[in-house]
Amino acid sequence: MATFRILVSFILLLKGCPAPGVERLNLPPYQWWSEVLHGVSDVGPGTHFDNITRAATSFPPVILTAASFNESLWKAIGVAVSNEARALHNVGLSGLTFWSPTINVVRHPRWGRATETPGEDPFVVGRYAVNYVRGLQDVVGYEVNATYPNSRPIKFAACCKHYGAYDVDNWNGIDRYHFDAQVL
Ligand SMILES: *[C@@H]1O[C@H](CO)[C@@H](O)[C@H](O)[C@H]1NC(C)=O
Ligand SMILES: *[C@@H]1O[C@H](CO)[C@@H](O)[C@H](O)[C@H]1NC(C)=O
Ligand SMILES: *[C@@H]1O[C@H](CO)[C@@H](O)[C@H](O)[C@H]1NC(C)=O
Repeated sequence: MATFRILVSFILLLKGCPAPGVERLNLPPYQWWSEVLHGVSDVGPGTHFDNITRAATSFPPVILTAASFNESLWKAIGVAVSNEARALHNVGLSGLTFWSPTINVVRHPRWGRATETPGEDPFVVGRYAVNYVRGLQDVVGYEVNATYPNSRPIKFAACCKHYGAYDVDNWNGIDRYHFDAQVL
């Protein structure tokens, strides 16, 4: 069982989240996994840099930006990041779906991913998430239509992560792909 789990985790890391595409409908394959935690990153297999487009802007780690307590700054970073992501997509180097932001509320400083989150305060985490996701997703000028939110066009799709009580990356043979958190 342990070998099987290691194998599954390895395949996930290697291949990411691919969809095979449908030839008869002329739908190409798609890689769902790209990342924009604090700038477009090539950590996920859906984004690549090349010799012409070598890098994207890397903003400070989220825990530092969160410490500014500046909501409009969080949103402005989202706008800048999504501009670069769309530019990369236009030249075929990135997808349109991004596994970001990380909004796990930090429960313990020894958790290795605390720096990629807005910290331990649920209120701040919530406000960060709203502002960063709006910055990433909204097309400037079409942000607010409270009567019919679904009419809002999206620049790309952000995906907040991870599931509640999912802050176990790999510890004592327990990993996050299989950990069954019993939340009371
Ligand atoms: C990119 O640049 C490196 C070093 O200059 C070179 O070895 C490589 O062949 C280049 N790759 C492409 C795809 O042009
Ligand atoms: C908050 O961030 C904005 C940029 O979005 C900046 O113009 C403003 O000066 C910042 N506010 C403070 C109090 O630093
Ligand atoms: C909001 O969306 C509704 C439904 O699509 C539409 O009738 C309305 O004109 C929109 N309002 C604005 C301000 O865009």
